[in-house]
Amino acid sequence: MSEPPDSERATRIGERRLPAVRPAQAVDASSVARVFVDCWKEGYHGVMPTAYAASLSYEDQADAWRRMICMPGNATLVGTSQAGDVIAFLCGGPERSARSQYFAEIYGLYVLPEFRGCELGRRLLVQFCTRLLAIGLCTLTVRVVEANPIRGFYESMGAIEHDNSPVRIAGRSLNEVAYGWRDIRPLCRGDTTGNPT
Ligand SMILES: CC(C)(COP(=O)(O)OP(=O)(O)OC[C@H]1O[C@@H](n2cnc3c(N)ncnc32)[C@H](O)[C@@H]1OP(=O)(O)O)[C@@H](O)C(=O)NCCC(=O)NCCS
Repeated sequence: MSEPPDSERATRIGERRLPAVRPAQAVDASSVARVFVDCWKEGYHGVMPTAYAASLSYEDQADAWRRMICMPGNATLVGTSQAGDVIAFLCGGPERSARSQYFAEIYGLYVLPEFRGCELGRRLLVQFCTRLLAIGLCTLTVRVVEANPIRGFYESMGAIEHDNSPVRIAGRSLNEVAYGWRDIRPLCRGDTTGNPT
């Protein structure tokens, strides 16, 4: 996806200073990896096999996320603290199964626990969708492990469950649920009431 002209700067709403959101660059890969690994280690007890979280390393993940950030067609946005540290990210790009009625996919959305609840998740999602609209895409999907409470976030953003399928992760059989927006334009306007699949 091409770079948008409007990277969002830190903004003030009332007296509250919100974290900035900007496009990621390759040099952000280590910071993105740190957010990813820390979120997994913190929040996946009971959701994913512990062996999987235990096997994640910052170094391996930095290489993986550098490739994701640099992959043509992908878009990665990061949320940064006032000190400029990466505290959240969203990475997405073309829908990967090629069997779906959705054109774009979120590959990962993570906000560090101590920065949750200040609309960073919503802002990353809306900015990603704004980028999709700018290149003419208006459908979006995301796959999550069934037991992951992030499902509630996507539902509150108007996504509708449209598929589920088995997946094997770290030797364990799990179920993966797919959510989708058939039209992301309402979400970009702040309407999260959802739309039919
Ligand atoms: C889910 C997540 C991204 C939300 O980020 P956040 O910055 O705390 O969310 P926001 O502050 O933008 O919340 C926006 C709205 O969603 C709601 N919301 C957030 N998380 C929710 C959840 N788990 N269930 C239900 N609603 C949720 C908020 O209450 C808020 O509602 P409001 O509009 O009525 O105020 C964050 O909790 C996270 O990173 N979770 C772990 C990530 C993960 O597991 N990723 C793997 C799959 S990609």
